[in-house]
Amino acid sequence: MNNPREIAIEIVKRFIEDDAWVTPLIRSYYKTFRDHRDSELMTELVYGTVKNYIKLSKVANTYLARSNLNSLNALQQALILVSIYELLYLTKIPEYATIHSYVEISKKITNTRFSKLINALLRNIQRRTKKVEFEPYEEFSINKELYIYLSRKLPTEFLNKLLNHSLEPHKVYVRCDNLINGEVNDSIFAPSCGLENVLFPETFLLKTVAALLRCKECANPVFQDLSTQIAQHLIPYVPRGTYLDLTSAPCLKSSYLSKRYPDILIISNDLNLKKLRRAKENFVMQNHLFVCSDAVRTAFKKTFDVVILDPPCSGLGTLRRKPEIKIRMNVEKIESLKELQRNMLNTASRLVRQNGYLCYMTCTVNPEENEELIQNFLKHRKDFIIETTKMNGIEFLENAYGIYIDGSKYDCDFFFFTTLRRVEQ
Ligand SMILES: C[S@@+](CC[C@H](N)C(=O)[O-])C[C@H]1O[C@@H](n2cnc3c(N)ncnc32)[C@H](O)[C@@H]1O
Repeated sequence: MNNPREIAIEIVKRFIEDDAWVTPLIRSYYKTFRDHRDSELMTELVYGTVKNYIKLSKVANTYLARSNLNSLNALQQALILVSIYELLYLTKIPEYATIHSYVEISKKITNTRFSKLINALLRNIQRRTKKVEFEPYEEFSINKELYIYLSRKLPTEFLNKLLNHSLEPHKVYVRCDNLINGEVNDSIFAPSCGLENVLFPETFLLKTVAALLRCKECANPVFQDLSTQIAQHLIPYVPRGTYLDLTSAPCLKSSYLSKRYPDILIISNDLNLKKLRRAKENFVMQNHLFVCSDAVRTAFKKTFDVVILDPPCSGLGTLRRKPEIKIRMNVEKIESLKELQRNMLNTASRLVRQNGYLCYMTCTVNPEENEELIQNFLKHRKDFIIETTKMNGIEFLENAYGIYIDGSKYDCDFFFFTTLRRVEQ
């Protein structure tokens, strides 16, 4: 199969049927295309459909005369949603061409009866025969429960900014470790190759799918969003210090630190052995060790100069890159994450030596997982103070307990970061 529309339908089907994450699936198909324009169309169709999933479903259900999306199988649902997305959003493609393509595909992968349904549905949508009105949560394609929860937690202006950001196409960034200390000047990193250097010597924005593939072949890049690349620059450097990254996998930050500061010793701990093994293969540095243990009940006896805690979180800062979260995250999951984060923070705090640092960070914008958690922690732990150091040239969104990287300003995820210092009581 090398038709970009058919592949997009297959990926969206797996998103519906198996709760699959779409990014690894999209990347796994890039090699099947000779022409990068096909890769780009497939990518746009998948992300566009998933980002607008709830809104497109509303359009489909309004126009489906006698049935409802949920009464169809996952393949039929995917076909309908991807085709509506192309018709409504990819306005450079003539509407007749879009309708023709999906009718032909549906004849091939479903049956004649269903292809007639697709034909009628798309033609009616093209003629706008019905009026569809959207509630705000549908407009942003976020599940209603999560929208209500966030409306209570976040100022309206910020929530709208976050959700508008979630609908835009996202950017892909890589980190090239051989440039961390500015040692190598490799021609692969020239702007003509579709890579744009941003903020740090090792950080690049990939401008095209072609750049992504070329970069992979030549430079062994680490895919890492700009937000977390900024965050790792905020972690304090303690010369010859000992570092513990308590929830480290896939070890993007700890591998950066081991490379940037060869004189430190860093231990990457995580509960997930498979992810740790992969990280160990990818990041080989003598000052970087790997341990598999539960961060809450860890058996570490000694204390460290720097403890890093980047725990599992609701991921609400990453909606643009991981639109699945808008559909799948809910209040029950957030409650259990909060408890886990609280427990992990307590354990992490015990592992910080006197005058040492505890860096807490998440890729969510939920105050309950960030500043409110830190505020509550500090109420009981007078032996810790806030000591977050900012970075020249970068504007953060600040509050009394930490800083946010503003995803809409820096064209990346939103990310929370704070440094606590253990002091004598
Ligand atoms: C947000 S990710 C960390 C990303 C990492 N800091 C990086 O830069 O690559 C959170 C990690 O916590 C790990 N985790 C979840 N529960 C854990 C537990 N009880 N103990 C240790 N690690 C855990 C997950 O396996 C996941 O890899």
